[in-house]
Amino acid sequence: MIWYYAVRKKKGKNMQVTTLVTDGYVTIPYPQSLRVRVHEAMQSWKNFCALPIEEKRKLSGGDRVSDFGYMRREDTGPRVDDKELFHVVKNEMSRLHTKVVTVSDQRAVRFIDAVETLRKESAPFIQEFAQAVEQEYQLNGLEEAVANSQHNWTFRYLHYFPGKRPSLANAHADRGGFTFHLWEDHVGGEYFDFDREWHPWSVSETKTIIFPSMGLQYFSHCALKALWHRIVPNKITETTGRYSMVAFIDFNMSHRFDDNQYRMQNFEPGFNYNMPFRDFKKLFVPR
Ligand SMILES: [Fe+2]
Repeated sequence: MIWYYAVRKKKGKNMQVTTLVTDGYVTIPYPQSLRVRVHEAMQSWKNFCALPIEEKRKLSGGDRVSDFGYMRREDTGPRVDDKELFHVVKNEMSRLHTKVVTVSDQRAVRFIDAVETLRKESAPFIQEFAQAVEQEYQLNGLEEAVANSQHNWTFRYLHYFPGKRPSLANAHADRGGFTFHLWEDHVGGEYFDFDREWHPWSVSETKTIIFPSMGLQYFSHCALKALWHRIVPNKITETTGRYSMVAFIDFNMSHRFDDNQYRMQNFEPGFNYNMPFRDFKKLFVPR
């Protein structure tokens, strides 16, 4: 048992997370086996996207409000949006398994299987990150809180359709705990640094980008900041579209961001960077 804890402590220390306070994010090399799973999951998502829309909609919650399974966004006007996405949460896997048998095309089944495999196999990597952050910033209880919230981790698969529009994702900070950018097939991701300038983040075959969201800023009493980011289009994505995959790691805390009262798009980018915790915590309500 002592050996087990010694190995776990050492593993956490191997992951470098010091750039969270200097750059706002970390880039961490994938374990090779996990990278293979990410590739498989992304390829199966692309295959799933090729199915007829009525088949894909069999794996949805049935309405726009239900944040579940397959979703299609087709907004026009000033907030133009044209994408399809898929949300996977452990709690809802049994619902998805029930629905997927109604889709005759095996690409749907293979997608759900790949999603489930990725969700399971990414858990140790996510836990290792939580452990490293807990140790580096003395955030007692973070690793345990993340472990106890696995049923709430959300894997989001995205497919932006080709076409001209001013933005693919407007500037925002994420509301959950922290966010993994697992895959992007084109450049376009940008982050707002602590000097309040936008910079591209690099798309990599071998590394993931991880940054804090509002929840981790709360948990760390503002030692870590929820990083603002956006996705901008380019000539290639206008022609070919864009695929990406992220994981939102939400974890149980005493409080949650009050999204009934506050909308992220009403805040200025970076509004939270220099905020004292006594003001920041007013944005949260008890769970
Ligand atoms: Fe985001």
